[in-house]
Amino acid sequence: MPKRNEIRRIGLLTGGGDCPGLNAVIRGVTKPAEDYGMSVYGLLDGFEGLVEGKARELKNSDVSGILARGGTILGSSNKGDPFHWPVEVNGKIEIQDKSDAAVQNYKTWGLDALIAVGGDGTMHIAHKLSQKGINVIGVPKTIDNDLDATDVTFGHDSAVFVVAEALDRLHTTASSHHRVIVTEVMGRYAGWIALHGGLSGGADIILIPEIPFSWDKVAEKIRERELKGKRFSLVCVAEGAKPIGGEVVAKGSDIKRTDPVQLGGIGKVVADKIAELTGRETRVTVLGHLQRGGSPTPYDRILSTKFGAFAIDLVANKKFGKMVALKGNEIKSVKIEDAISKQKLVQLDDQGVFAARAVGISFGD
Ligand code: F6P
Repeated sequence: MPKRNEIRRIGLLTGGGDCPGLNAVIRGVTKPAEDYGMSVYGLLDGFEGLVEGKARELKNSDVSGILARGGTILGSSNKGDPFHWPVEVNGKIEIQDKSDAAVQNYKTWGLDALIAVGGDGTMHIAHKLSQKGINVIGVPKTIDNDLDATDVTFGHDSAVFVVAEALDRLHTTASSHHRVIVTEVMGRYAGWIALHGGLSGGADIILIPEIPFSWDKVAEKIRERELKGKRFSLVCVAEGAKPIGGEVVAKGSDIKRTDPVQLGGIGKVVADKIAELTGRETRVTVLGHLQRGGSPTPYDRILSTKFGAFAIDLVANKKFGKMVALKGNEIKSVKIEDAISKQKLVQLDDQGVFAARAVGISFGD
């Protein structure tokens, strides 16, 4: 049985883009809290809640029945960075530093620690807040799986499941109509969703940010399949993929966000070019936020629950400035500082890339 501890009140927030498994972490933190003699204060809409003073007490009853629910009962935001706070001044957006207000609310609420659940951006903010005296613990989430310090982030498996299911469905219709179907998936800088989704859904071509592709090679693969009597092809392209010498395709930008560029549109560009080069009929499916919504897979439910339970244990042991991480089969902790120093990108010698090539999948290179 855990020991009672002088840490009495902890804040909990979910920051950045949501993903399946956030509620499982909230439950994993809140359910054991009582045993540690702690109460949990849920901050609303990520760091926005910390700056604007929006929060609510979380009791056991609040987290009952939320394990399998997608989204986050606390709300989230990718515009609430206290160090990059958008304010409208004379009709224009000005970026201000509101981190002092965040620290003030932490003190006013009598918090002894803050558990921040989020991706790369959230961990950066958490680290800066820890330098201002807040006792922070990080929990890594993101469907993109691009945090180097953990083998896997929760949310990734659920997103891959959506991609695999979509490719299974697209397979049958692409085959019936002898078409090339391009599926655009998320993945800004890292191609893990496209790689794992494409591998599990049997894509013929996978295009990822880490491997700039050649249009000729992509067309060649489709022609090669046709010569073997395969009159359809499936292409799985990450939103951040780009052709050799080309640029990523963006649909807009929003300076209120820490990462202002909104990617999207590469799927159509790829489909149009394939039609031009091969004369084949092409179609595009953009999976978008379907990958972020809905119920977490069992793998993500387990990982999220472990992350939550270990995060509150780190708080109880006052191991602040740490992020929980999966290393092999064990949950460990790493310094948040180290966790944000490196993005986890797909390496050319990754075993997934090796296996994909071995079964004939092209990366367009
Ligand atoms: O970081 C996760 C992610 O899913 C990225 O792959 C994607 O570019 C981004 O979120 C989209 O976020 P939103 O549509 O919420 O702005």
